[in-house]
Amino acid sequence: MDFTTLHPEKDPTVYILPFFKEGIDPLLIQKHSGIERIVDFEGKFGEILVIYHPTKPRKVFLLGLGEQKDIIKAFQAFRILAFHHHAKWTSSIHVGLEHLTVEICHHAALGLELATYNIGLFKKERESMPAFFKGLTTVYIHHADPNANNHILAGKLTAETQINMMKLVDKPSNKKKPEDLANYALESAHQYRYQAKVLNQEVLEHEGLHALLAVGQGSNNSPLLIQLEYKPSEMESAQPQLGLVGKGITFDTGGLSIKGANNMHYMKSDMGGAAAVIGAIELAARLQLDIHVVGIIPVAENSVDALSIKPGDVIDSYSGKTIEVIDTDAEGRLILADGLAYLQKNYRPNTIIDVATLTGNCVLALGYHAAGLFTDNAKLAKELVQAGQHTNERLWQLPLWDDYKGDIQSDIADVKNYSGKPVAGAIAAAKFLQFFVKDHPQWAHLDIAGVAFGDSAFTKMKSATGFGVRLLVEYMKLSENGLEYKLEGNPKSD
Ligand code: BES
Ligand code: ZN
Ligand code: ZN
Repeated sequence: MDFTTLHPEKDPTVYILPFFKEGIDPLLIQKHSGIERIVDFEGKFGEILVIYHPTKPRKVFLLGLGEQKDIIKAFQAFRILAFHHHAKWTSSIHVGLEHLTVEICHHAALGLELATYNIGLFKKERESMPAFFKGLTTVYIHHADPNANNHILAGKLTAETQINMMKLVDKPSNKKKPEDLANYALESAHQYRYQAKVLNQEVLEHEGLHALLAVGQGSNNSPLLIQLEYKPSEMESAQPQLGLVGKGITFDTGGLSIKGANNMHYMKSDMGGAAAVIGAIELAARLQLDIHVVGIIPVAENSVDALSIKPGDVIDSYSGKTIEVIDTDAEGRLILADGLAYLQKNYRPNTIIDVATLTGNCVLALGYHAAGLFTDNAKLAKELVQAGQHTNERLWQLPLWDDYKGDIQSDIADVKNYSGKPVAGAIAAAKFLQFFVKDHPQWAHLDIAGVAFGDSAFTKMKSATGFGVRLLVEYMKLSENGLEYKLEGNPKSD
């Protein structure tokens, strides 16, 4: 989609005019719509009133943004408006934002661009879909602030990357093998100038990523590990400030501890954590953030096969610790154990954040409106919660007390992957991961099982949300200069 703040057209035919509840301006509405008195418009979030100009060929779309304090979700109002009303638009539209603060330009660009995502990726008539979905609309944004263009560009780039990630998550498993995720990462890295490397099965065997290999051993589509690294060219830094790990299960059948059939098709989204990490690094590179960040994405398909791991099996892991696999459906924590250990040993980042659609139990606890946050570091918790408040991707902290450690203690191995109890499953999973980050002072785990994929205004069934991309980038911005802990030693030193 093309965005510009230059306005060659004197007489726009489509004009979008958003208002917060507190700021409805009848004179401004009159100026653009030619109508003196407007009824039935209160500025409620997502409210839309179309006014046909009495003398000019012009439609004015009044758009409600809700209360000023809800500005963080303004982009969503633009997305809903565009997605449901673009059929009434011409190839160029105008958005009047002069009466609002400049941040609204970011929201308008983000929301309008996001609206061009149409989930019908495999529909034969995709070619004949409206031009709007092909991004062929020109958007003229009216705002006097000299920074408007920066806000618009950032909004557009953010939406483009988020759409890339939603596409990946929405793809079914037959169109999304581990290799497809790896190819996406390699192409993205090439296009946006950051580093990507893929470790194939042979290398994983040689390096000893036994837990990742164990999860993938029941599938014809071999597991692999993606490494991403973004570092500004002028930055001299051996150790990344931030290391991200994302769960990349391209499909989760549960393995031999097989899932029920009812909602199994949704398990194509079990790489939502991987998408958050790939997207965050792609976007950091596109926005040229001043941060050195590494991403580790273990990728596997959790399938049912004669070769699959069996309940009760004891497996090795990259860290050297042994794991008793009580439940093969608790596979995410197994591949993350190797991802986390690999990240620490080879990169030693100052801060580690892992992101995963890890437990149904987290969905039971928090529903679809917040991700679970687990960390012992209060400063990191505060920064992440704050970042989520800025992007409307909310996090809610759950405990990591050692009282829960009993849930992962195994008789036969160093640790077990499932407590066998129907309670506190999200916490037990977090304790399991903590076992593999050792005593790293700055580690956080985000369980995004309830928020990566869900009901929406844009699809009939559940679909990808892109959760985590904006959150992680916002965290990088907040903490660009504020990372306090420095670990001793250099990468690859042990
Ligand atoms: N991928 C699932 C978690 C999940 C559930 C994500 C619902 C999104 C929506 C994960 O691998 C899983 O199956 N977890 C089990 C763990 C249990 C066997 C200890 C769960 O949560 O039931
Ligand atoms: Zn599972
Ligand atoms: Zn899973």
